[in-house]
Amino acid sequence: MVTDDSVVVQTKDLTKQYGNQVAVNHLSFTLREGEIFGFLGPNGAGKTTTLLMLMGLTRPSSGEAVVCGLDPVRRAKDVKRIIGYMPENVGFYPELDAVQSLEYIAALNGIPESEARNKIDEFLELVGLKDEAYKKVANFSRGMKQRLGIAEVLIKDPKVLFLDEPTLGLDPEAALNLIDLIVRLKEEHNMTVLLSSHHLHQVQRMSDRVGIMINGTMVAQGTLDQLSKEKFGLGDKTYSLEEIYLKYFREG
Ligand SMILES: Nc1ncnc2c1ncn2[C@@H]1O[C@H](COP(=O)(O)OP(=O)(O)O)[C@@H](O)[C@H]1O
Ligand SMILES: [Mg+2]
Repeated sequence: MVTDDSVVVQTKDLTKQYGNQVAVNHLSFTLREGEIFGFLGPNGAGKTTTLLMLMGLTRPSSGEAVVCGLDPVRRAKDVKRIIGYMPENVGFYPELDAVQSLEYIAALNGIPESEARNKIDEFLELVGLKDEAYKKVANFSRGMKQRLGIAEVLIKDPKVLFLDEPTLGLDPEAALNLIDLIVRLKEEHNMTVLLSSHHLHQVQRMSDRVGIMINGTMVAQGTLDQLSKEKFGLGDKTYSLEEIYLKYFREG
């Protein structure tokens, strides 16, 4: 695969099979710098498996992937350093407060204490947890935990964020808060984000482009406008992601 500097992630025919089951089927897509790409699809569509392959955490059965110019299979350690991964269920030490949690992550990543201190202040402010800095994580709401999770992945200065179902289990206001944060990371910090979700309107709100995955196959990808035209033909009306998704889902 030939990629240029603006390409952060690229895959070609990336495939993962578990026994007879094809979890990800010949997936080809490109993620460029400063872009938010939303993987959309029902449970079991292959979203998490794709993220794991891109991080070198599970081996593709066939196909290729490049993350910031690196092959995730052969350069797994380097690739993990570049990607800020927030899994579906972020683990925390409930007895630590927000600052201690971030200090711990900084130490794990070999960041000197003096430098960590500044970053921790900066990121707590950025994710809106400044007033909760010394509160135990045990007392955090799910929305607060997700925002702390984002601060944790930002500490190691990643080139790209992988967010797996970031808004899962959040009430509407907490979800909007998190979406706003993700969009700000892109707009103010030129962050590149790959996220997975099955919440259509939330993905529509924050993504520049989306890929619709059904049973391991990405049946469509593009901007909302592009998908609208592809599925509903030319015209002035732009359809909602929900209308488009359902049409793909029903018609294949
Ligand atoms: N470690 C595994 N072993 C066997 N099957 C798996 C494994 N991980 C995922 N799968 C299967 O692969 C498919 C895709 O799963 P996954 O990537 O987790 O989907 P999503 O994240 O979109 O919900 C599912 O059918 C799931 O059961
Ligand atoms: Mg998943």
